[in-house]
Amino acid sequence: MIVSKESGTRIDEITEGIFRISTPVPPEAIPGGFTFNQYLVVDDMPLLYHSGPRKMFPLVQKAVASVIPVSSLRYLGLSHFEADECGALNEFLEVAPEAEPLCGSIAKMVSVDDMALRPARALADGEELSLGTHVVRWIDTPHFPHGWECGHLFETTTKTLFCGDLFTQGGHEHPPLTSEDILNSSEAMRAALDYFSHTGYAMDLAEKLAGTSPRILACMHGAAWEGDGGDLLRQLGKRLAG
Ligand SMILES: [Fe+2]
Ligand SMILES: [Fe+2]
Repeated sequence: MIVSKESGTRIDEITEGIFRISTPVPPEAIPGGFTFNQYLVVDDMPLLYHSGPRKMFPLVQKAVASVIPVSSLRYLGLSHFEADECGALNEFLEVAPEAEPLCGSIAKMVSVDDMALRPARALADGEELSLGTHVVRWIDTPHFPHGWECGHLFETTTKTLFCGDLFTQGGHEHPPLTSEDILNSSEAMRAALDYFSHTGYAMDLAEKLAGTSPRILACMHGAAWEGDGGDLLRQLGKRLAG
């Protein structure tokens, strides 16, 4: 569903209670075009995973408001500390008085508790948090793809891995959910832009995520993907190691 005709921002339910919000940025603004996605988990304690950049706040707010009251947001999650992950964090904390930032322990210690209006709820590696029906689990993945504080969130009931910047696909025209190739298109992006760290643990960390056997990879840039997520993560790990 389109929520802003001017920007093309849309929101689509990709699995039970999980919505992908996506704003396309045309090639005139970012070479090749790009998308910024956020994910909304609608539950007793609603979670918005990534705030989007600060300048996109009105668009993401409007998309959330098309499904639930923005003031009902309870958690504002982030993989790592960058503008597209948490640039609008404080704007959301202002309009959602019960909301807390949700992140890993390093992000809380190093950046979030200094920059955010309210302290973060940090999850330890492997720790789970119930949102009501959905249950999210935090997985520490330092430097994978980038950032010491980096981790990813896995929703256990739908087997959705919010995989952040992993499998970043260029271009601004994507379906909300696809089963087509995203590995080669994201590898083309990595060949052009060196956005992965050069950690020697990439294969181990890919295996750590693959161990959750995700059914959906909720990418932050490009389409979300449905299929054997464990297999695709292992393929990525091999490419990174090779
Ligand atoms: Fe990033
Ligand atoms: Fe990102």
